[in-house]
Amino acid sequence: MTAQTDKDAFLDTLLSRMSLMEKVGQLNYPSGSGVDTTGVGQKVDTPVMIRRGELCGISAGARLADRRELQTIAVEEGPNGIPLIFGKDCIQRYKTGGPIPLALSCSWDLDLIRRVNEMTAREARADGITINWAPMLDVCHDARWGRIAEGNGEFPYLGAKIAEVIVRAYQGEDGDMARPDRFMATLKHFMGYGLARAGRDYAGVEASVATLARIMEPFRAGIEAGAGAIMVAFNTINDIPVTAHRTLLQDVLRKRLGFKGIIVTDFTAIDPELVHHGVAANSREAAYLAFKAGVNVDLVSQAFLRHLPELVEDGAAHPEAYAGPDGAYRYGPVTEAEITARAREVLEAKWHLGLFQNPYIGMDDGHRAMVTYTAENRALVREAAAKSLVLLKNERNALPLPAKGTLAVIGPLADDRIDMQGTWAIDVDPENSVTILEGLRAAAPAGMTVLHAKGANIVDDPSLAARLNMHNRAMPSVVIGPESPSAMIKAALVTAAKADTILLCLGEAKEHAGESSTRAEITLPEAQRPLFDAIAAHARAEAKPLVLIAMAGRPLALTHEAAHVDALIWTGHPGNEAGNGLADVLFGKVSPSGRLSQALPRSTGQLPYRTEDLVTGRPIWGAGIDVEGDEECDAKGHHWFRKFTTACILEEPMVPLYPAGFGLGYTSFRYGTPIPSAIHLKGDTELTVSVEITNTGKCAGAEVAQAYLHDLVGHTARPKRQLIGFERVELAPDETRTVTFRITTDTLRYPVGDSLTHYTEDWEPGEFELLIGPDAETVDRLRIRWDRA
Ligand code: BGC
Repeated sequence: MTAQTDKDAFLDTLLSRMSLMEKVGQLNYPSGSGVDTTGVGQKVDTPVMIRRGELCGISAGARLADRRELQTIAVEEGPNGIPLIFGKDCIQRYKTGGPIPLALSCSWDLDLIRRVNEMTAREARADGITINWAPMLDVCHDARWGRIAEGNGEFPYLGAKIAEVIVRAYQGEDGDMARPDRFMATLKHFMGYGLARAGRDYAGVEASVATLARIMEPFRAGIEAGAGAIMVAFNTINDIPVTAHRTLLQDVLRKRLGFKGIIVTDFTAIDPELVHHGVAANSREAAYLAFKAGVNVDLVSQAFLRHLPELVEDGAAHPEAYAGPDGAYRYGPVTEAEITARAREVLEAKWHLGLFQNPYIGMDDGHRAMVTYTAENRALVREAAAKSLVLLKNERNALPLPAKGTLAVIGPLADDRIDMQGTWAIDVDPENSVTILEGLRAAAPAGMTVLHAKGANIVDDPSLAARLNMHNRAMPSVVIGPESPSAMIKAALVTAAKADTILLCLGEAKEHAGESSTRAEITLPEAQRPLFDAIAAHARAEAKPLVLIAMAGRPLALTHEAAHVDALIWTGHPGNEAGNGLADVLFGKVSPSGRLSQALPRSTGQLPYRTEDLVTGRPIWGAGIDVEGDEECDAKGHHWFRKFTTACILEEPMVPLYPAGFGLGYTSFRYGTPIPSAIHLKGDTELTVSVEITNTGKCAGAEVAQAYLHDLVGHTARPKRQLIGFERVELAPDETRTVTFRITTDTLRYPVGDSLTHYTEDWEPGEFELLIGPDAETVDRLRIRWDRA
C-alpha cells in the first residue's frame, strides 16, 4: 500500500464512524478557556467540548502541560479519539525573538529567512504548537496600516520568494510535518487585507483585478511550496466580505491557484463579522454564507457548530427554502456530503501533521529545553538583527563609531526591552534580551565611555500610552515618568554635552504597529520631536557627529530628521538581540547590508505609495511645464514640481525619501554596464542579463542587485517598473562578481480582464525595458524586443 492509499483508507474508515455532529466539530475551532482572542471570542469549557467531539483544535494558550492534558482527553475520551491541533501566531519568532517580518525582509537574504523560520518551527513544535497562523503575505502600500510590520514589504516578487522559503522552513523541503521540528504554515490573509483604505485596519478594499492578481503572487508561491492552510481576510473586496466570497475562495483559490489544504477564517470573521458587514442578518445566515463560500474551519465564532447540523436537517426537509436568487440561502441546501468533504480535508491536515500516529509529537519537555532559546538561536537572531537594519545615510564618516571617547546614547527606545521586540512577540520573554544601550556597553572597547539619558517619553499622552501598553499592562513599557518633557530634554543635553558622539534611539513602541494600530501621521511620535530638535541643534553647534536609530514597526517619514543627522538607520523592531546586532554594525564588525523592502515616504501625504505604480497619462518627467521662479530640482537637475504632470505635489517631490531597494554599507560598489544575451528575442526562450559588480571600498560587504521590468506597451496600463529578480552578493574589497538575471516569457506575463473568474495571464510581444541597479530609482536601462516567434 502506498502512503496515499493508507491515508485514504484510514480517513474513509474514520469518517464512516463519525456522526454529523462530530464532522461539524472538525470544522470548529474555539478560542479555548482562558485564552485571549483578538476578536470577541467566548469562553468555552474546552474539556467538555473535546469529550463531545465538538472541535478540531484550540488556541494554544500558554502552557505545554495544558496542551498535553487536552490532547490526552481528545485521544482517550473523545468520541473517535481524534487528536487536536493547537494554533498560535508565531510570526517569525516563538521564544527567541527575531526582527519583525518587515525588517527581516529588508535583508533580502533568503537563506537567513529560512534559518530564522526553521528556528521558529523548531521551538514552537517542541512546545506542542501544530499550526502557525503565519506567514502573513499581505502587500501594503500605505504605511499608516499597522500590520505592515508583519509583512514582507511592498514587492510581490520578493514576497513570493519569501513565502516559498517560509513554507518550506515550517513544513520541510519534503513537506513531512510529522516531525518535532515542523508545523503547518497558514498563508494569510487571503486577500487584499493590506490594501485597507487609508491604512485603517479592517476597512474595505477597492482594487482592480490586476492589482489583486499581482498581490496574489506571494500566495501562489506559498501554495506551490505546499502550504497546508490559508486564512481568509476580514475585509471586503469591492464590497464583498472575503469570508463569504465564493469567487475568490472557489474560482481563484481552489481552481486557479490549485490550493488543496484547509481554508480557515480569521478570528470571529463569520459571527459577528458577516453580520456586521451587513451581508447576513444573523449568525445562521453568516454560517451558511461562509460554508457555501468554501470555508473549512470557523476560527473562534462557533457559528458552524451552532448552525450547520440544523442547516443540513432543514435543507433535507425544505430544499425549496434554499433556492432562488433572493435571500441569504441562495446556493442550495447544505448537505452532509459537503460537510464530510470539508471535515475530510481537516482530518487530512491532521494526518499530514502525523497526529494520528503520534498525537504528542513535539510535546516533550526535554526536547523543548534543548531547542529553545539556545545560544545558537540567539546568535541567529543577532545575525538577523544586524542584517535587517538599513543604513540610509552616513556622512562625515559618522559610522562606524569611533572606538574611543564618550558616546551618549539618548532616547526612550535605547533601553526599552519590551518595545524593541515588536508586534506579535507574544511568547518572547523581554527579560531575555539585550537593549541597544546594553549591547553598546558590552561591545564598547576599553577606555570608551557610554552614557545614557532617556530624554523623552515615547508618547506624552496618557490615553495613547494606555493604548500602547494594551498587551503589556502588567509590565508597561510606555511609561510617562514624573519628569516634565523639558526637564528630560535638559538632562539629555547635559549628557550630550559630555559626549563626542551622540546616538539617538527614537521611534515607535511595539503597539504603534501591528493589528488595529493605524497611525494618523507616520512621523516620529510627537513627544520625541522636541528632543530630536534640541539634540540636533546641540550636535550642529558643537560639530558632533549625530546618529539616529529609528526603531519602528513601519517605514517612517523622516524627512526632517534625515536632513539634520550625519547617519540614519531604520531598524524595524529588531527583537531579542537588538543591542548586540546593532553594536556589531555600529562598531564596524559587520557592514550593514539591509535594503528597504518598502520605500520610505517623505510624508504621510505621499501615501499610498507604490514603487510598482502605473505610469499615468502624465508621467512625472513627461510633458508639463517647469514653473518660472521655481528653483527646486533633484540631483539630475529635474524640477521636482512640474505643472500638469503627476509630479504635482506642491510641497515635496513625488519620489520617496528613500526608494525601495535602497541601503548603504561601509563599502561602495560599482556596477558595470548590464549585458543582455540578446536584444531581439522570439518565443519561449530565455534572456539573460549580466552585470559585473565590484566592491570598490576598503571592507567586505554585501550588495543586493535588483532587476525591474517595464512593459512599454500592453493591453492595459503597466507598472513603470516591476521587481523581477534580485541577488545578494558578498564581496571582499576589490572583488568583482557577475550577477546574472534570467528572464523568460513567464516573467512577462500579466493579468488582463476585469473579472476575477475570467481574467487571463499572458504576455504580449513588443518592447520591454529592463532596469538594473542597486535600488528602484538608481538603474541602468536597456531595451529589448520580444516577439512571439
Ligand atoms: C488576526 C490574525 C490572527 C488572529 C489570531 C486576528 O485578529 O487578524 O492574523 O492570526 O487574530 O491571533
